Amino acid sequence: MDRLIIFDTTLRDGEQSPGASMTRDEKLRIAKQLERLRVDVIEAGFAAASNGDFEAVRAIAAAVRDSTVCSLSRANERDILRAAEALAPAASRRIHTFIATSPLHMEKKLRMVPEQVLEHARAAVRLARQHTDDVEFSAEDASRSEIDFLCRVLEMAIAEGATTVNIPDTVGYAVPAQYGELLRTLRERIPNSDKAVWSVHCHNDLGMAVANSLAGVLNGVRQIECTINGLGERAGNTALEEVVMAVRTRRDVFAVETRIDTTQIVPASRLVSNITGFPVQPNKAVVGANAFAHASGIHQDGVLKSRQTYEIMRAEDVGWSANRIVLGKLSGRNAFKQRVQELAIPVATDAEMEAAFSRFKDLADRKAEIFDEDIQALFSGEEVGQQQERFQFRSISQRSETGGRPSAELCFAVAGREERAVSEGNGPVDAVFKAIESRVGSGSELLLFSVNAITTGTESQGEVTVRLARGGRIVNGVGADLDIVAASAKAYFNALNKLYTINERIDPQISMTP
Ligand code: KIV
Ligand code: ZN
Repeated sequence: MDRLIIFDTTLRDGEQSPGASMTRDEKLRIAKQLERLRVDVIEAGFAAASNGDFEAVRAIAAAVRDSTVCSLSRANERDILRAAEALAPAASRRIHTFIATSPLHMEKKLRMVPEQVLEHARAAVRLARQHTDDVEFSAEDASRSEIDFLCRVLEMAIAEGATTVNIPDTVGYAVPAQYGELLRTLRERIPNSDKAVWSVHCHNDLGMAVANSLAGVLNGVRQIECTINGLGERAGNTALEEVVMAVRTRRDVFAVETRIDTTQIVPASRLVSNITGFPVQPNKAVVGANAFAHASGIHQDGVLKSRQTYEIMRAEDVGWSANRIVLGKLSGRNAFKQRVQELAIPVATDAEMEAAFSRFKDLADRKAEIFDEDIQALFSGEEVGQQQERFQFRSISQRSETGGRPSAELCFAVAGREERAVSEGNGPVDAVFKAIESRVGSGSELLLFSVNAITTGTESQGEVTVRLARGGRIVNGVGADLDIVAASAKAYFNALNKLYTINERIDPQISMTP
């Protein structure tokens, strides 16, 4: 069996998705989980985007030992040097440099003629190779590029020392048969094609990212670039969980194997969803709540008689816990810690665990049974890093009655100073947000508000996602509580904290700089 390299770009391409911006610590938690998942390469970010992005890539490079850490860079000297510097502490490092090769991108975005693009690509790969032996070159918008030019650029990149060449379907335009054929043709026509690993990077605009990536594998590709939950710009990227389980379940077709620990897939999915505030749809393959027959309650009879009647994968193989232990008021520190470990929730320090235990005790006082999902939520969004955050939720009192105008009174802290705010609103949540804005005055626009029950039943905690936009920047905030109005306040503060701490950054692909 050939090895298929799994290159995760949740922290780079996934983060380019509007609202998915993460703090350095959040990225670090996801990176540790990706390492536990045993992905081969973690694209930790785009180091040249901002100082914050540089620091995040550097922190991940220092913390991760078992996966290669990679930084994206455009095909210019500054980006490559920033990437090299950020990656310096890594045990294994990769520089990923790219430039667009399609006529449309070259003319309209880069304002370059093909020869200039070729020279930029050459210089970039050459410089990157001076800093690491592991260099990836991507021809952005490859699926809409002219094949003769693509062959020239890729042959040159390999000759200059690119060890991986990537063929992105940047705008999700490809269809499987045609994309597979493109990969086969490139590999056949380029004389030195056997000197590099061939990679695919697909976007899901037409819902074919996974199918296109797998078509690549059938045509000799040995690296797939993907993200957890398919997170990514517009309709997202290839979903890691889907390609990994496809090649594992259909070994007979794909004849490749990965080194992924599949039992870490669901914990990774939950972590990414909790941190970014992008919920996973219930019917999402592999990681959706209804993905397995026994969980959705359908075909129960058939499944009871023989699992294989309706299940092609086992839920426990992808990390769904078979018998979730319920904790409660009387559960002690050890039981809590053990469950956190079993759920593979990354906890960096003893102090973080202790703070989570105290939140757990608080919740257990108000809720009889604590499920796995409740424990996950204790480590999500607003809950983690409370002490260091600029905006901190303290308490809420809210009133609404039929025929009356709802009102809310909030107590919160801004940079350690306690504030109180009162407001009326069209509904209780509107009253809360207006109260917060009356003191904070962020002037942001609310783009999205959604509530999900974390578990089933009326005792469930509500998990609220809030998306705010200000000055062209978009952030998501997440908050969970038994009281959904309090959860809404927490989510709003979580979003504000991101709005005020995550710096302006350059989008590597929209930028006109090569
Ligand atoms: O979609 C794309 O083309 C990319 C490249 C930068 C690899 O994300
Ligand atoms: Zn992309």
